[in-house]
Amino acid sequence: MWKKILALFIGVVVGYWLIDDFNPDVLRGKRVVVTGSSTGIGEQIAYHYARLGASVLVTARREAALKQVVQRCKELGPKDGRYFYKTADMANMSATKLVIQEAVRRLGGVDILVLNHILPIPLGMFDGSPQNLSLTDAVLDVNFKAYVHLTSHALPHLVAANGSLVVVSSLAGKIGQPFTTTYSATKFALDGFFGSLRQEFRLKGCDVSITMCVIGLVGTESALRGLRDFGQHYLLEMLPAETPSDTALAIVRGGALRRREIYHPYLSIRLMTLLRDWAPEMVESMNRYLYTLPN
Ligand SMILES: NC(=O)c1ccc[n+]([C@@H]2O[C@H](COP(=O)([O-])OP(=O)(O)OC[C@H]3O[C@@H](n4cnc5c(N)ncnc54)[C@H](OP(=O)(O)O)[C@@H]3O)[C@@H](O)[C@H]2O)c1
Ligand SMILES: *[C@@H]1O[C@H](CO)[C@@H](O)[C@H](O)[C@H]1NC(C)=O
Ligand SMILES: *[C@@H]1O[C@H](CO)[C@@H](O)[C@H](O)[C@H]1NC(C)=O
Ligand SMILES: *[C@@H]1O[C@H](CO)[C@@H](O)[C@H](O)[C@H]1NC(C)=O
Repeated sequence: MWKKILALFIGVVVGYWLIDDFNPDVLRGKRVVVTGSSTGIGEQIAYHYARLGASVLVTARREAALKQVVQRCKELGPKDGRYFYKTADMANMSATKLVIQEAVRRLGGVDILVLNHILPIPLGMFDGSPQNLSLTDAVLDVNFKAYVHLTSHALPHLVAANGSLVVVSSLAGKIGQPFTTTYSATKFALDGFFGSLRQEFRLKGCDVSITMCVIGLVGTESALRGLRDFGQHYLLEMLPAETPSDTALAIVRGGALRRREIYHPYLSIRLMTLLRDWAPEMVESMNRYLYTLPN
């Protein structure tokens, strides 16, 4: 019985994995905004869109880095590609409006909004200190509130274009992981907010897709540094990190296919999220096994 179920499951997963219905042409001429795109996964997302013929506005805090990303997009994209940047601090909600305004002014609208930025914070244990509490506010503003504000400003444009919202989340947004209390909370909050919004869109026949991207460890500089600085050498040894570029492509494809959720790397992350509700303690202890308590 179990063998049959397992065989069926493997068949479904492998079959699904083999289907490649991504038509890269659908992104040609699309007007895209990518947040947190001065480095890491966001930067690579911008490059994939550029290569596939979309026009892109990148945004983050560091102007020099954004200028370089725009330059690289010009090299990768077609001659008529249009690439812009807008510096903004996502801790400041008025800045979220200016980003979308700039995108509309430069690109004439927004077809795809990729919400990707996060406030970089060190890993740490929650002990209820005032320092922990003030960090909670800052992280909630940047990682959650700014996503809601950006969505609200972009919504009329996305509706007009039957566009897409692509939200970059994490396995930590489906299963609590140690040393990331507030980060994990903001990713769960995004799941709740955008899950509810998707239901409203369906109810009223609004044709804006919402893709939640559930991703595992990706070898960006900040992620690897964060784990190393907190002594998570065992995890780094055991868990192969995906490349930022492959991860970015999975996100871009998922958005273009208007998928409800994507998982990357597919097999391990999908399996973990499926098992989460059937065998939570097993999944939690499997995850816990990878982490080391700092001394
Ligand atoms: N890397 C992983 O292992 C991993 C795993 C699961 C999920 N994810 C998710 O993938 C996404 C990207 O992660 P990443 O590893 O690529 O991160 P990253 O390399 O640290 O990049 C973060 C981006 O956000 C920008 N940013 C930070 N604070 C900002 C602020 N206050 N206002 C505006 N922009 C700000 C940064 O640019 P500036 O400094 O120039 O502002 C940078 O462009 C995140 O949503 C993350 O949760 C990553
Ligand atoms: C927030 O952004 C707006 C618009 O760019 C700016 O006028 C304002 O000074 C910023 N506020 C802070 C606290 O930086
Ligand atoms: C919480 O505050 C303590 C100091 O009391 C600090 O060592 C720890 O890293 C903080 N945790 C987080 C998650 O920021
Ligand atoms: C959006 O979808 C509606 C209904 O499917 C359609 O009538 C409209 O032309 C579409 N608009 C665009 C810009 O594709």
